[in-house]
Amino acid sequence: MNYTFRTLRFDPLKDESPYFQDFLYETEETKTTLEALMDIRNEQDCTLAFRYSCREAICGSCGMVINGRFELACRTMIDSLKSSVVVIEPLPNLEIQKDLVVDMEPFFETVRKIRPYIFPEGEVLEKGCRIEEKEMERIFQYINCILCGCCYSACPVASRDERYLGPAALAKLYRFVRDPRDMRHFSEWSKVNTEGGVWGCDTVFKCNEVCPKDVRPADGIEALRRKLVLEKIKRLFRFKR
Ligand code: SF4
Ligand code: SF4
Ligand code: FES
Repeated sequence: MNYTFRTLRFDPLKDESPYFQDFLYETEETKTTLEALMDIRNEQDCTLAFRYSCREAICGSCGMVINGRFELACRTMIDSLKSSVVVIEPLPNLEIQKDLVVDMEPFFETVRKIRPYIFPEGEVLEKGCRIEEKEMERIFQYINCILCGCCYSACPVASRDERYLGPAALAKLYRFVRDPRDMRHFSEWSKVNTEGGVWGCDTVFKCNEVCPKDVRPADGIEALRRKLVLEKIKRLFRFKR
């Protein structure tokens, strides 16, 4: 099968603006988009830049836009695209460092802000803390996040408001707040009770649509909103009594 890989190129050291370059690619085998990009880099242009690591949809490095859809290149089979022209673009709303490689730092910074780890009660046991299966099931959806940044990159609010924490960070916060092992104080997680936090989301669910791991981060944002409101009401009643 013959394909044209129309790939966005940009080298900030020499190009004034991004442009598309066509690579003709022929393969008899069933390949992923990542494998095709690796072949193109190895056989046609060794300067083509893109990120990858695990090659099995776990590390979150290879998020990009393929024929207009947010995808992980390592699990997108080229024959599934049903087109001989494959248009490849980097994740939008993040600065291009080179070709398909974008600066993920603003995204990782949002995740760091929510302190994405368990706040244990007392000393941490050497063997860790067990969690009931049914409790695990409640947070499993959010644990699936591989930090690919697709949701953040696609989120219309994150693209226009740098205060906004974005879908992955907020969903991850919900994952910890919902975890019975996490003892973070209300004053810690209620910091997202702001426009830059849960109330900034305009609930158009673009994040749910693009997430390659079916995390549905907007569900977590909604759940966090409900939890915040309930907690506020509980505290108000306690105060009145
Ligand atoms: S639902 Fe909220 S977090 Fe998700 S893309 Fe829309 S604004 Fe962003
Ligand atoms: S929630 Fe989904 S799209 Fe967002 S970073 Fe995690 S895996 Fe990627
Ligand atoms: S290379 Fe790791 S998710 Fe694609």
